[in-house]
Amino acid sequence: MRRIAVLTSGGDAPGMNACIRSVVRYGLAAGLQVYGVRQGYRGLIDNQIFPLDSRAVSGILRAGGTILMSARSQEFHTEAGQCRAIEVLRGWDIDGLVVIGGDGSLRGALELHRKGFPVVGVPASIDNDIACTEMSIGVDTALNTILEAVDRIKDTAAALQRAFVIEVMGRSHGYLALMAGIAGGAEMVVLPGTQVDRDKVVDEVRSAFLRGKPHFIIVAAEGASSAEKSISQLLSEYVQASGHEVRTTVLGHVQRGGSPTCYDRLLGTRLGAAAVDCLLKGKSGVMVGIQSGEIAVTDLETVLSAAPELSKEALRLSEPLAH
Ligand code: F6P
Repeated sequence: MRRIAVLTSGGDAPGMNACIRSVVRYGLAAGLQVYGVRQGYRGLIDNQIFPLDSRAVSGILRAGGTILMSARSQEFHTEAGQCRAIEVLRGWDIDGLVVIGGDGSLRGALELHRKGFPVVGVPASIDNDIACTEMSIGVDTALNTILEAVDRIKDTAAALQRAFVIEVMGRSHGYLALMAGIAGGAEMVVLPGTQVDRDKVVDEVRSAFLRGKPHFIIVAAEGASSAEKSISQLLSEYVQASGHEVRTTVLGHVQRGGSPTCYDRLLGTRLGAAAVDCLLKGKSGVMVGIQSGEIAVTDLETVLSAAPELSKEALRLSEPLAH
């Protein structure tokens, strides 16, 4: 292993830059030459590769987004796209690749490994929907951003004794909604896969205000939406039936931006170095993650065939604490 490359792919996540910086500086310290790929797999196919030195990654620890930029590439899903990507990497004499991204990006990494190119994946997605790691890069920052919004909304909700539906990201996974609901003191959390009952919502809103609650905050996962309606539309109709005023806030892409928290900077740094270690040891087709606070290396096959689970303890705490 003499030359390695690094790319970020899919939805960006705060802490990706810390990870890039770590791959570059840890790789250089180990005697490797390090290259960056612009715009993820799309840039790889288009030969957008350039050398990275220590100065190129100065001052990026605190920056959100990704200095390498990202993309969701359709072409890379094809056999021809994947073969072209490997051809480009071999053309640069690159011996190994670090892929920083979410589920789709790790699936791409597995395809490259299956075609014989050494690759190591690093989980980065605010959704925390990747199995075999307790946390992915970006989750902690996104949660803190959501909490700030929930706290602010609570102020105005309490002033006017209103109900609020706050819709959070997470694709089909409910991690952000569950954790933000608990940490933000929401009166109700709605997760993907849960049946929302109109009468139950009406009862809970009425009884909360009767018990003296000044507000009724519902944190809803975007993935709880149905084919006909977004979850916030549906819930706001149900709340209206209770006779109480309701407002809706869809937090959207605000959740993906911003300076990474200390946790995400450290996580990105640790996982970046661990990915380089894997390549140096000749490992490929694996993902580096965190289990019980320690670095854990798992085959991508295993990671991608497992369903990410929500903590049973958090699920158990969510309802009683809302009352
Ligand atoms: O996977 C990260 C994520 O932010 C999801 O939470 C969200 O559903 C999706 O990406 C949004 O994707 P895009 O930025 O392409 O609209």
